[in-house]
Amino acid sequence: MKKINVLVIGSGGREHALVWKIKQSPFAGKVFVAPGNGGISRDAKIFDLPADFETLASFAENRKIGYVVVGPEVPLINGIADFFANRGIPVFGPSREAAMLEGSKIFAKKFMKKNRIPTAEFEIFDKPEDAIKFVKNRKNIVVKADGLCAGKGVVVCDTGEEAHNAIKRIMADKIFGSAGERIVIERKLVGEEASVLVLFSDKGYVPLIPARDHKPAFDGGRGPNTGGMGAYAPAISAISEKISGKIEREIIKPLAEGIRREGISYFGVLYIGLMIVNGAPYVLEFNVRFGDPETQAILPLLKNDLMEVFMEMEDGGLPALVWENGFCVDVVLASGGYPGKCETGKKITFAKNIPSDIMIFHAGTELKNGNFFTSGGRVLNVAACGGSLKKAREKVYGAVSKIGFEGMFYRKDIGK
Ligand code: AMP
Ligand code: GLY
Repeated sequence: MKKINVLVIGSGGREHALVWKIKQSPFAGKVFVAPGNGGISRDAKIFDLPADFETLASFAENRKIGYVVVGPEVPLINGIADFFANRGIPVFGPSREAAMLEGSKIFAKKFMKKNRIPTAEFEIFDKPEDAIKFVKNRKNIVVKADGLCAGKGVVVCDTGEEAHNAIKRIMADKIFGSAGERIVIERKLVGEEASVLVLFSDKGYVPLIPARDHKPAFDGGRGPNTGGMGAYAPAISAISEKISGKIEREIIKPLAEGIRREGISYFGVLYIGLMIVNGAPYVLEFNVRFGDPETQAILPLLKNDLMEVFMEMEDGGLPALVWENGFCVDVVLASGGYPGKCETGKKITFAKNIPSDIMIFHAGTELKNGNFFTSGGRVLNVAACGGSLKKAREKVYGAVSKIGFEGMFYRKDIGK
């Protein structure tokens, strides 16, 4: 295989982890990232390009890019993979049609129902009055806007009154615009959450090791939901070998068959968000991309060359994945106030004695005159591997104590 120039699209910790892994490959030529962030600029060339596909495709042609890896969902749902494919540039990421599994919750729920994939019972509404009538006197329900809402379109409600308010905000006040024209109302599931990412192509699928994200802002799962405050892998407490077999039989296989039957072509990674209820897996959501921060805990354990994995899939094969023994824990360091409004522009300090096997993946950082400054809610990911979850935790939190910025906070119970 000859060297290939790569363009990674995105700007978070997930993209930094992808760049870190891609760069270890002898087949990686130049690595470019658009738009990237301060930390990524130390490992790759970053370009703050406008996000329109024409600009990105022309850039890719000028720089002789041989492969594009797309981090976030928005460009995928808007059809970036189709656009690049038409220009003859291969992309790791699904077509616009396949990306509907994340782009529309209604599409995803109907797809699951049709293919008998276990998921919470649901109803679909396009009129607020009908939805409000439905939730009256009901408890433990979840209200979901149909379209993309930057991770904020799901409201888990204990009471009918909370659900009533959520419906009003989404459908009458239109806080998410047209993404909230239709909603799904579903039963709240109680159990343990886990994320299973699966490499998917027309040839079949290969699951990655399961991971566990911690979404609430504060320790013990308290506080508002965030994009994710940390993750660990493999998530064996939620997913035993027995459950893993069930996930494959009851979810991944029918999913692959359903995709084939409907004539949809899926190429890329499919993220399955699960709730394990008394040993039974249910799908909460699909994402059509790598998870953030799950990726930062999964890739450090992958022994394969990631470029080889991509190229093998590109050539119509399915890679045999090999994993390190042990665990990886990834802790997110966030700006005070996150996920609400937060102050940025704070100088980040790193002690000199951070061990060299600690991985630091940047999310919201800027590099100015040799120093890093905060530029977002989630600022850094600190990741470490260990033979046991306990060892990985000790290592990662030892390193976290050597990093600081004004207002910094993080969860102390990732992987506990
Ligand atoms: P989603 O975007 O559908 O994954 O929803 C975001 C988060 O809301 C999930 O990670 C869960 O924590 C929670 N959630 C979604 N659906 C349900 C459900 N049916 N029962 C309980 N929690 C849910
Ligand atoms: N960690 C949740 C997500 O990537 O959507």
